[in-house]
Amino acid sequence: MEKFVVNGGKPLFGEVNISGAKNAAVAIIPAVILCDEPCQIENIPNISDVSLISRILQQLGANVRRINKSSLYIDPTHIQTCNATTELVRGMRASYYLLGALLGKYGNAKVALPGGCNFGVRPIDQHLKGFEALGAETRLIDGAIIDAKCDNKLIGTHIYLDVVSVGATMNIMLAACKAEGQTVIENAAKEPHIVDLANFLNSMGADIRGAGTDVIKVRGVGYLHGVTYSVIPDQIEAGTYMCAAAATRGCITVNNITPKHLESISIKLREMGVKITEYDESIKVDATVKPLKRCNIKTMPHPGFPTDCQPQFVALLMGVPGTSIVNESVWDNRYQYISQFINMGAQISVEGRLAIIEGGAPLTAAPVKATDLRAGAAMIIAALQINGTTEISNIQFIERGYENVIEKFKALGADIKKVYFTGDNDAELRA
Ligand code: EPU
Repeated sequence: MEKFVVNGGKPLFGEVNISGAKNAAVAIIPAVILCDEPCQIENIPNISDVSLISRILQQLGANVRRINKSSLYIDPTHIQTCNATTELVRGMRASYYLLGALLGKYGNAKVALPGGCNFGVRPIDQHLKGFEALGAETRLIDGAIIDAKCDNKLIGTHIYLDVVSVGATMNIMLAACKAEGQTVIENAAKEPHIVDLANFLNSMGADIRGAGTDVIKVRGVGYLHGVTYSVIPDQIEAGTYMCAAAATRGCITVNNITPKHLESISIKLREMGVKITEYDESIKVDATVKPLKRCNIKTMPHPGFPTDCQPQFVALLMGVPGTSIVNESVWDNRYQYISQFINMGAQISVEGRLAIIEGGAPLTAAPVKATDLRAGAAMIIAALQINGTTEISNIQFIERGYENVIEKFKALGADIKKVYFTGDNDAELRA
């Protein structure tokens, strides 16, 4: 069993380089299925979710090779099956993009229901509604596998999303890329990774307009040619380090980012008294200037405050005196991790979608569990604030989405290491 061990209480200083965006990469990799030639994808984060989706493509018959630490060569021209029903597929959320990509390219797809972080019910009805509007038939086999197919070609149409969904927007874009005629997606999500996926598809010859607004128009094309494409920087990884700098009252520069993607995070940190200086591709976060103030946060689809930074901000706010209220409006149940913070002495109560944080209560080191990816990152931020040694277990969640997280925090001066526990009672330990 592996754990992270953090000796906290020291401010972070220095620079950190941000990797490519997980949620863009895990869509762009299956999107290559639509291409009629090989592609090279660069700025891919070296994380376990990327390894997983790459292995799933290999299982379908694609040739996927890592060219270097951050580039993949993907040749989809030898895909032999549209059945993606293995355990690997169940192991991640983004495997649902196989539905749109396989349906768009071959007119049929059998894909196991996706796994991923547990935030309560995670329906995909809007994805299926989109595929059906394009002319596909969908059915659930044995409660575990989605079967989507069309007799002839998918036909472009108007699709109105009842909820703003990142996954449904991207999946319908994928399916519509080669459909006959024009598809209009209304009430589309506007996250930076949606624009990135559209840019990738357009670079191969697709015709997608309006990505980044709430109306996306996709005109179907016949052939997509191979390209070399570089994934955008990870907005949420950057937000995590920004939060960690503020929580430890440090001062760091976050490099390789797009400041515009971080606006909602920067605005909140500024409101709290953190000095934020934006450069072309980096941002300086200085929490040494004045005492931090409490603030309220409501998560919303982009350009609102990202739900994927909500746990990290709760970790920050629990160390800031005063009452802060967080309103999680995207997911029904994204506060499962809060009991871990309460074990550390935090005073937080949850009422439905609200978390009420009485910040400034003394925090003490306690063993905690990463309950999901972002909650795991939040555990690190909590531990970095506490004088004492915190052990974080279930770190496989964190490694799903953060490249070299130990090395990056260490370079900022954090005392953090990964340890491998052997034996039944964790008595033996080696670094
Ligand atoms: N929803 C529906 N029906 C659908 C789809 C979504 O009701 O068919 C609801 C969901 O239940 C939720 C809301 O719509 O309440 C938004 O869900 P969305 O579809 O936007 O989420 P997702 O595509 O499943 C992606 C990210 C998540 C991130 C959300 C919201 C990936 C692989 N995952 O999930 O990222 O929280 O968008 O921004 O892109 C993470 O990276 O830690 C993570 C969980």
